[in-house]
Amino acid sequence: MVFQDPDQFVIQTSADRSAGRSAGRAAQKWFSDTENVKFFREFEAEYLRLPRKLCVEIALDSLDASAGPSAVEERLLGWPRPPIDILDVGCGTGSNLLYLQERRPEAKIIGIDPEPAMIDLATETKSAEIIQATIENAPFEPESFDLIISHSNFRLWNEPVEGLKKIYQLLKPGGLAYILDLRGDVTPDLRQHLLERLDSEIKRQFFASQLEAAYTPDQIKNFLEQAAITHYTLGLGGLGGYPIRSSAAFALLQKNEYIAELVFRLSQEGFRSSRSADATLHLYIRRPMTKGI
Ligand SMILES: C[S@@+](CC[C@H](N)C(=O)[O-])C[C@H]1O[C@@H](n2cnc3c(N)ncnc32)[C@H](O)[C@@H]1O
Repeated sequence: MVFQDPDQFVIQTSADRSAGRSAGRAAQKWFSDTENVKFFREFEAEYLRLPRKLCVEIALDSLDASAGPSAVEERLLGWPRPPIDILDVGCGTGSNLLYLQERRPEAKIIGIDPEPAMIDLATETKSAEIIQATIENAPFEPESFDLIISHSNFRLWNEPVEGLKKIYQLLKPGGLAYILDLRGDVTPDLRQHLLERLDSEIKRQFFASQLEAAYTPDQIKNFLEQAAITHYTLGLGGLGGYPIRSSAAFALLQKNEYIAELVFRLSQEGFRSSRSADATLHLYIRRPMTKGI
């Protein structure tokens, strides 16, 4: 049965987290159990279906902003897209891969995930290749990908600095990585509010354990510094990290109908709190076209 050892979810301070990463290991261990994975499948179908698509759309939009036609040019003018290479880090049961295939049929898409229990459920993906690996040990040549997406797993990486270095190394010049995860510094009030919206104890335990493992923005900045990555943007909450009433978020909604539609559908889901986004952080890493710029 799931959660046999509730002690592993004991609340920890950020100091404990950075020292031992035991919360991260406990949160990750969770995905190696077949029963837990079945539960996660249901959890993700209910809670992650739309946020995950939004993550993909924001990643594609950010990439298109610097390369390729916009969503309008694609849909209304039929402009062809270049066959880009995409990596989905922590692809889990493959739902992101399926959506990416639908949205970018011309792309070469690869997913990686270390947990066989998760990958075994990813049977529906058609053309995407799935490789059992962590990002830290991902077996690819440098400069292999135009776009790297990591949705909801940065907190689980064993070696975040190594993982970030690897991501930067795997990006082609001009490429973009978009890492979306929970943030480790949510206020007790927000934590309580979000947990109360979940309708079973197991869901609350699961979410609490994942929240415990999450890194604070300061920790992430520190990891980026250690990885010598300077071309990045770290946004908190809102839409893709832009405050919800900012001109950047508004511009995103105006120019991209996929994003606008998903935001609208998310707002229609009665069980979802409008404060959910406050618990997220959004890290964009860009590899410059030319070295040193
Ligand atoms: C919460 S699930 C998210 C799965 C998927 N991205 C989604 O949005 O549904 C986290 C996944 O990240 C994977 N993961 C953990 N550590 C990882 C690492 N170092 N590199 C790649 N994936 C990792 C886990 O095995 C798990 O399948």
